[in-house]
Amino acid sequence: MEHITILDDKRIILGVTGSIAAYKAVDLASKLTQAGARVDVIMTGAAQRFVAPLTFQAVTGRPVYTSMWGTDTGGGLPTHIAHVGLGEGADLLVVAPVTANSLAKLAHGLADDLLSVTALAARCPVVVAPAMDGGMYEHPTTQANLAALRERGVTVIEPARGRFASGLVGRGRLPETPVLLGHIRRALGRGGSLENMKVVITAGGTREPIDPVRYITNRSSGKQGYALAQAALDAGACVTLISATQQLPVPVGAVLVPVESAEAMLDAVLTYSRDADALIMAAAVADFRPAEIAQHKIKKADQDDEAPTLALRRTPDILMAIKTQRAATGHPRAVIGFAAESHDLLENAQAKLRRKGLDLIVANDITAPDAGFNVDTNRVVLIDAGGAQHPLDLTSKARVGEAVIARVAALLGTEEEAR
Ligand code: C5P
Repeated sequence: MEHITILDDKRIILGVTGSIAAYKAVDLASKLTQAGARVDVIMTGAAQRFVAPLTFQAVTGRPVYTSMWGTDTGGGLPTHIAHVGLGEGADLLVVAPVTANSLAKLAHGLADDLLSVTALAARCPVVVAPAMDGGMYEHPTTQANLAALRERGVTVIEPARGRFASGLVGRGRLPETPVLLGHIRRALGRGGSLENMKVVITAGGTREPIDPVRYITNRSSGKQGYALAQAALDAGACVTLISATQQLPVPVGAVLVPVESAEAMLDAVLTYSRDADALIMAAAVADFRPAEIAQHKIKKADQDDEAPTLALRRTPDILMAIKTQRAATGHPRAVIGFAAESHDLLENAQAKLRRKGLDLIVANDITAPDAGFNVDTNRVVLIDAGGAQHPLDLTSKARVGEAVIARVAALLGTEEEAR
């Protein structure tokens, strides 16, 4: 697993309490560690009945803390008093799963085990992920405790609905690791370079209907657009993701606007960009659509070899429409386009940048097998309005996303104010 920039070198305390979902926290601890974070696990006594401390120690490569009576913490902590040492140095405290009991302790300031004492000593952001069976989550007492924690700025990860270990069905399951990671990234992204900025991002290849069953589309997977959305979220932005693909997991915190055709994407982009700070058009918008959409499925006649001819029309150019809107309203303040080209990459990208009035264009050579459509890596050149070219080496779409988002922060003049 590639390091995740926002988690890299972060000191995360993972509190694990006595829920059957404690076994899922092993995967979370492992993924956080693989992403580059230093994970210090604190287990309550009840948690140790479900999973052995050794399991967490094995996946994090660090000692696991279980008692508030020991003084030798090991692990290079700043003080010999475990709770103060752990709490002081942490970037984030995550309690996953948190039981109704530990939740009540956190809400009321009880401090009778290492986790609850550390929570009081810590000054970092806190994320809790409740997991409990049989209606305990819905109980007014639990809800009141959660409300108190939210009031204090604690991030509460809504549990999922589903089947419990008891066989009952309801809300109270610990969400899967990618969802937990998404919330953790969001909490760490607070105060980032795009804090309070509204960023609209388009992704995927549009589908232009021929009849009720057929459409014309292109090879875009939407991966680069989704990676941009995640990078913007990591930088603290409010992200609206206008997506023509519904195949990818939506990054936690993004508002998804599903669309199908270029026409529908145009409407959504104009609506959501009205008050946006930045628009990033990563979508592969179809240039042509069928002139007529047949109401019924076009049938082939059995005895007839004739095939229908498809007349095409141009679709609206969304960035040209945005250029007009921007001239009138000043929004979006920064506009970034993509140029997916198979020849004369830089010349074509420069021309597009000028014609569409962009602040930055991401020039993408789609002929290379390791870049462009459907793969997880990309090789791009960023070209700014002054014509300066910044080539990036072959890298992951996540890293390309971060490089573009750093440019957006520079364009909006927010990169200096961050944190
Ligand atoms: O004109 P071309 O498709 O080559 O330009 C690519 C850029 O323009 C991309 O950012 C794409 O999202 C955007 N585009 C658009 N409206 C279209 C076609 C492309 O905004 N109809």
